[in-house]
Amino acid sequence: MAELQPVPFMVGTMYDQFTDIFAQYFGGNLHFGYWESEKDDSPIEVATNRLTDLVADRLALTTGGRVLDVGCGSGKASVHISSGRGLHVVGITVSDHQLQLARARSYDEGLAEQVSFQLADATELPFEDSSFEGAYAIESILHMRDKDTVFGNLARVLRPGARLVIADFYQSDEISGNEANLAVHASQLLQIPPLITADMYREHVHRVGLQLVEFTDIREHVERSYASLPAMFQQIASTFGSEIFPQAVTVARFLEQFGIIPQVGYMLLTAVRP
Ligand SMILES: C[S@@+](CC[C@H](N)C(=O)[O-])C[C@H]1O[C@@H](n2cnc3c(N)ncnc32)[C@H](O)[C@@H]1O
Repeated sequence: MAELQPVPFMVGTMYDQFTDIFAQYFGGNLHFGYWESEKDDSPIEVATNRLTDLVADRLALTTGGRVLDVGCGSGKASVHISSGRGLHVVGITVSDHQLQLARARSYDEGLAEQVSFQLADATELPFEDSSFEGAYAIESILHMRDKDTVFGNLARVLRPGARLVIADFYQSDEISGNEANLAVHASQLLQIPPLITADMYREHVHRVGLQLVEFTDIREHVERSYASLPAMFQQIASTFGSEIFPQAVTVARFLEQFGIIPQVGYMLLTAVRP
């Protein structure tokens, strides 16, 4: 089967459909949680907000500033980061539904002056050169097929000294057998092109003139999030029609049986514009 190479419109349509269900399983966020240790029994909302904080810490901004949230989802991370650290956050998404949710959230929290959202594609960022003190992308780059252009755009909008922080999945080993079969279904259901490796991420950073500050695999801390996935995909299967049902059931059953996908790592990557 040909590899899926989704365009932003397809990604946006998928999120228009599934965002409410994803958010329900991840404490309002649309990303994995972080647990300090096996003894840490934090609920999912605390753990997903903790991942947001780990990303925000790496922006290393102590005196305020304007920050880009690349793929802002329901706006929960943007609002969390802005309210906790006094930053101005501009969030972009390719989903209309997410845009409405994110705007409503910033109004409800009284943060509409500090946090704004717009529909925009990361491959065509509608912002001036050197206009942000930082940028972060939590589980959004994995959807983007033209990563060269995305990294080029991100480097362009960062001021000298500004950091880019990415929390995302990457391919840590060759994917074959059962996992390859799962990858086909998951990539079609979730609009994800084939994952890239750690070396490929480092190469993207280098090619656009950014300097790598950190590449850390935190999969041991986030793996507990996989436990929420079978029920989430079952709910997607039962909520949506016949086109989506078979893929969602296949993904749910795989995750029920195997728990995790061992060839998929989870990275925190930090780079700086010199
Ligand atoms: C898994 S969600 C993560 C949302 C949010 N960062 C969070 O952690 O809650 C992926 C996000 O990436 C965004 N996205 C995917 N492709 C994009 C693109 N080409 N340009 C901008 N945003 C994109 C989606 O709209 C969605 O908001």
